[in-house]
Amino acid sequence: MASAEALVGAWWRGLLFCLGMPLVISDPSPIPGYTFTRSFLGLDKCNACVGTSICKKLYKEQIRLEGWQPPQLHLPSDNRTSYEANYTDDLKTWRPVVLSRLVSPDMHQLADKSICISAGKRKSCSIETVLRATPRFQNLNNSNILLPSMVQGLVTPMLRCPSQRLLDRIVHRYFEVADVGSVQMKHFTSKDKLRLLYTLAVNQQPLILQMFPGNEGWPFPRYHGSCGRLMMWAGCRPLRSLYPSSLAQRSDAAYQILHITQSLASNSLHFHLYYTSVSEDMFGIAEDGRHFITDASIIGIIDLQEGFHTETDTQANHTDVFSCLSGSCVRGPSCETIRSSQSFRLICRHVLPKLLTSTDVQSSRLPRRVISELTVCSDPTQSDQRIHKAVQILMDTLQPFRQCNSNFGYRYPECRYSDKF
Ligand SMILES: *[C@@H]1O[C@H](CO)[C@@H](O)[C@H](O)[C@H]1NC(C)=O
Ligand SMILES: *[C@@H]1O[C@H](CO)[C@@H](O)[C@H](O)[C@H]1NC(C)=O
Ligand SMILES: *[C@@H]1O[C@H](CO)[C@@H](O)[C@H](O)[C@H]1NC(C)=O
Ligand SMILES: *[C@@H]1O[C@H](CO)[C@@H](O)[C@H](O)[C@H]1NC(C)=O
Repeated sequence: MASAEALVGAWWRGLLFCLGMPLVISDPSPIPGYTFTRSFLGLDKCNACVGTSICKKLYKEQIRLEGWQPPQLHLPSDNRTSYEANYTDDLKTWRPVVLSRLVSPDMHQLADKSICISAGKRKSCSIETVLRATPRFQNLNNSNILLPSMVQGLVTPMLRCPSQRLLDRIVHRYFEVADVGSVQMKHFTSKDKLRLLYTLAVNQQPLILQMFPGNEGWPFPRYHGSCGRLMMWAGCRPLRSLYPSSLAQRSDAAYQILHITQSLASNSLHFHLYYTSVSEDMFGIAEDGRHFITDASIIGIIDLQEGFHTETDTQANHTDVFSCLSGSCVRGPSCETIRSSQSFRLICRHVLPKLLTSTDVQSSRLPRRVISELTVCSDPTQSDQRIHKAVQILMDTLQPFRQCNSNFGYRYPECRYSDKF
C-alpha cells in the first residue's frame, strides 16, 4: 500500500481514471468523527476479510460516507452492499469513491453460518479457526507459491482455468500486504494468506482491480484498499445516465465499450479477459468521459501464453467450505467451451441496444447498418469470424459520430493532433 502511494507518477496518471474533478473544500475545520463499529466494517470477522489498508483513513475522516452532514453524523444502514463516499488524501481535494462489501450482508451472514455448520457448530463459531483448519488453507500456509491445486473448486470466474502465470500475478500485485511486488509469498504472514484465500473465494473484484490497474491502461477503476469486509475504489457515473443524451455521446459510449472489450480480449500480456455475464451496471463513466468496467466480479481469464491446465482427474471433487462463500457453488462452463466472440455477443445483446436504438435510425442520423450488424453480433449461430467482422463494421461506422469537445476530455491529445477534427 505505502509503496503504491509512493509511485507519484503512477498516482498522477491514476488521477485521470474515474476520480472525477477534485472538489475543493474551503473549510478544513476539524469535525466530530463517525463511530464506525467493527461489525459495520466487518473487522470483527477478520481474517475472514479483505484487509485493513484503508482503516486508518476511515478513522481519520479522510473518507466521508454519503449523507455526511455535520454536526450530527449518521452512518447509513449496515444492511447495504455498497455506499457512495468522498475521499481525500490531502484534506483539501475530495474525490468520489465507492465502498462496497464483497457480497450482500445477507449473503455474508449465510456464508458465515455455513462455515460454522461445516465444522459441526450450529449457532456460532470462530470462523477464522474453522477456515484455518481446512486442508486448503493448510496447503497454502505451507507454501510460498500460490498453486492451481490451492484454488481448485473455487467458483470465482477468473479461477476456472488458472495458469501459474495468472496465480503469480495475483500474488505479485496483491496490495494488502506490507511489501508488494514478489511472486513468492515469503513476505505473507499466515493472516495475509487467509485474507487472500477468503477474497479469492468470495469476490475477485478487488484482486482484478489490483492485477490490471487503470494507470497501466486497463479499463478498471483505481483500487484504494479495504477495511474489514469493505473495499474501496474510484467512483464513476453509471452508464444509464447517458441514455437521455445526444447520439454523439451514446455512439462514443458504444465505441468505447467495443474497444474496451477488444483490449481485454487481446493485449500485450496475452491474458484473454472475457465477460461471463454482462449488465449495463458493470460499466461506469469518469469525469473526462472515459468508460470503465466497474464490476470486475464477472471477468473470466484464459492465459493465451501458457494455455490452461486441464484437470487431470475430472472425477475428483475439490468442493469444500470455500467453494460456496460467494452465494453460489456452481462453477461455470470450462474454458475449452468459451468462444472468442463471447464478450461481444453479450454486449451486443444486452448493453449496446440500450445506447443505439432504431429511433436513431428513424431520425435518419444513424446508418441502418448499425442495427443490422448489432443483430449479427449478438447471434450465437454466427461464426466467431463473422461476429468479429460485425464488431469492426460497428466501430468503423460509429467512429465519425464521436466528437472532440469538452464532454470527451479523455480523447485529448488524440483530438488535438488528428487533422480530422
Ligand atoms: C461528495 O461531495 C460533494 C461536494 O461536497 C457532494 O455534492 C456529494 O454529495 C458528496 N458525495 C457523497 C457520496 O457524499
Ligand atoms: C437486510 O435487507 C434484506 C433485503 O434488502 C432483508 O431481506 C433483510 O431482512 C434485512 N436484514 C436486516 C437485519 O435488516
Ligand atoms: C501457518 O504457518 C506458520 C509458519 O509457517 C505457522 O507458524 C502457523 O502455525 C501455521 N498456521 C496454521 C493455522 O497452520
Ligand atoms: C462434491 O462434494 C460435496 C460435499 O463435499 C457435495 O455436496 C457435492 O455434491 C459433490 N459434487 C460432486 C460433483 O460430486
